[in-house]
Amino acid sequence: MLILGVETSCDETGVALVRDGRLVAEALASQTDIHAVFGGVVPEIASREHQRMLPVLFRDLLARAEVTAQDIGAIAIARGPGLLGSLLVGLSFAKGLCLATGAAIIGVNHLHAHLLAAGLEEEMRFPALGLLVSGGHTHIYRISSPTEFKLLGRTLDDAAGEAFDKVAKLLNLPYPGGRYLDDLSQGVEPDHTLFPRAYVHNDNLDFSFSGLKTAVAEYLGKRPHLAYATMPDADALQSAGALSLAGHPQELAIIASSFNYAVAETLRIKVERALERESGLVSLVVAGGVAANSHVRAAMANVAGGHGLALHLPRPALCTDNASMIAHAGALALKAGYRHGLDLESVPRGRAVPEDWIRTAQ
Ligand code: KG4
Ligand code: ZN
Repeated sequence: MLILGVETSCDETGVALVRDGRLVAEALASQTDIHAVFGGVVPEIASREHQRMLPVLFRDLLARAEVTAQDIGAIAIARGPGLLGSLLVGLSFAKGLCLATGAAIIGVNHLHAHLLAAGLEEEMRFPALGLLVSGGHTHIYRISSPTEFKLLGRTLDDAAGEAFDKVAKLLNLPYPGGRYLDDLSQGVEPDHTLFPRAYVHNDNLDFSFSGLKTAVAEYLGKRPHLAYATMPDADALQSAGALSLAGHPQELAIIASSFNYAVAETLRIKVERALERESGLVSLVVAGGVAANSHVRAAMANVAGGHGLALHLPRPALCTDNASMIAHAGALALKAGYRHGLDLESVPRGRAVPEDWIRTAQ
């Protein structure tokens, strides 16, 4: 069956087609440049951009896959968590298409879709420990199957990606700044004593990154010369996606490297703890935008190797928001015998996504 995935939960508009577990075609439009001017995502603008781009991307997708809307058997829609206005644009689009074509609808938990994304390119093994590190979430799950997720720990304040973006902002790097901090740190030894491993001296699997961000802010507060060191050269940024540093490149690189190290170590400590507590696991899954981070990738490869687990780590383009992962997660839920009806609702950030599937006879 040909399955369409639709992603509009934050600031990427995506559509993708999968068939028999394989990607047929995908189209993605990022709004990053539009929101960067404001230093963060503006929800109203995000909704309007989704509204504008969805029909354009959809037409383009059908043309490239050489199919028509009537060929689509089911539509997988990212139902949340996310920005409610943006989610509603995608859901309404999906429902309209279902009404017009008779396709089935399946709502997908955006967070679970991140964790299943690796399955588009390799066979995933379960039960798995799943670490989701994105702009809005830092969650650890036990994943028993593609439709069975048990939350073991979560962030109590900032998400890992949020910490990256806030620290990047302190350094005047563009939004979202995670990848610039990663770039700046390349080949530079971290100073392990510079920033703390936040919220690890306890007995739980939760995270707290706000203290780490504060530690960086205090460190920078004592070094005012660094606040003006990273004014980006707009032309260079646009043409090469790179930054030109106005001054103090070495000092900044050490800060970036030490911050990356502190985050990766914090994640490593909690993942090791979860692995000690959960039994019977065969793999480690790491997903979400921060899973594109080179330090996090290296740390998790070490952890998986040390515990004899398979490592499922999507390539960087599959780590950030996209519709292929939504289509794939929807396909797996359909295969497990689930679907939704046209009364499906979107779920805003901060609320748990219900498992209110309709069970189909198999
Ligand atoms: O999963 P995602 O695309 O969107 C959400 O669902 O939140 O994650 C976006 C987050 C942003 O905070 C961004 O700065 C971060 O992922 N990110 C990175 C890197 N690439 C993206 N953080 C650190 N290093 C990277 N290379
Ligand atoms: Zn995401």
